[in-house]
Amino acid sequence: MKKIIVANFKMNPPSLKEANALFKAYDIKTKHTIILCPPFVYLRKGKYYALGAQNCFYKNSGAYTGEISPTMLKNLGCDYVILGHSERKESIEEIDLKVKACLENDLKVILCISELSQLKNVKDKSIIIAYEPISAIGTGKAYSLKDISRNYNSIKERLKENKILYGGSVTNKNAKDILDIVDGVLIGGASIHKQEFLNIIK
Ligand code: PGA
Repeated sequence: MKKIIVANFKMNPPSLKEANALFKAYDIKTKHTIILCPPFVYLRKGKYYALGAQNCFYKNSGAYTGEISPTMLKNLGCDYVILGHSERKESIEEIDLKVKACLENDLKVILCISELSQLKNVKDKSIIIAYEPISAIGTGKAYSLKDISRNYNSIKERLKENKILYGGSVTNKNAKDILDIVDGVLIGGASIHKQEFLNIIK
C-alpha cells in the first residue's frame, strides 16, 4: 500500500556534496510518497521525491533576522514543512502560529506531537500528524507495535481524515512492520544512511 515516508535529515549531512549524493540516490520511483526534509541550505527539488523543510517562520517578510518564511519555502519548491519537532522545544502558541501561516501559504504541514493533548488545536484535515514519543527519538528504542497501534487508533478516533505517521527509531529492520499499521513514518537517523533508507523506501 502507498505510504508516506518522511526523511528528516536534521542538521545533517555536514557538506553539500554529501547532501547532493543523498538527493541523487533517493530520487527514484517507488510506490510510496517520499518527502525529503534537509536543512534549509540544501533544499533542492527532485523528480520523484517531494521536498519539505524542517521548520518555518509565521510571517512572510519583515525584520526577523535568521528566519525563513512560508513564501520563501514555496519559491524553492517545498510542498511540505515539519512543524513542532520536539527537538525545537517551541511553545504551543508559536507552533499554532506557524501551522496557520503555512496552511495559508499552501504548504502541507507535518505536525509532530508526542502527547495526545497536543492535538486539541488540530482543525484542518490536511495536517499530517507525526506521532513521535520522545523516549523513542534517536534512542534506537522504537515503540512496540502494540503501543504504536494503540496510539495510532486513539489519534485516528479523533482525527478520522488526517494521515497519521509514527516517528522514533524507525530503521530498515522495523519499518515494514510499522508501515503495516500506520499511514507512514518519519525517519531521522536512518534517513541519512543511504543503503538503509533505500531499503525502507524500495
Ligand atoms: P529518529 O528521529 O528516527 O532518529 O529517532 C525521528 C525524528 O526525530 O523525527
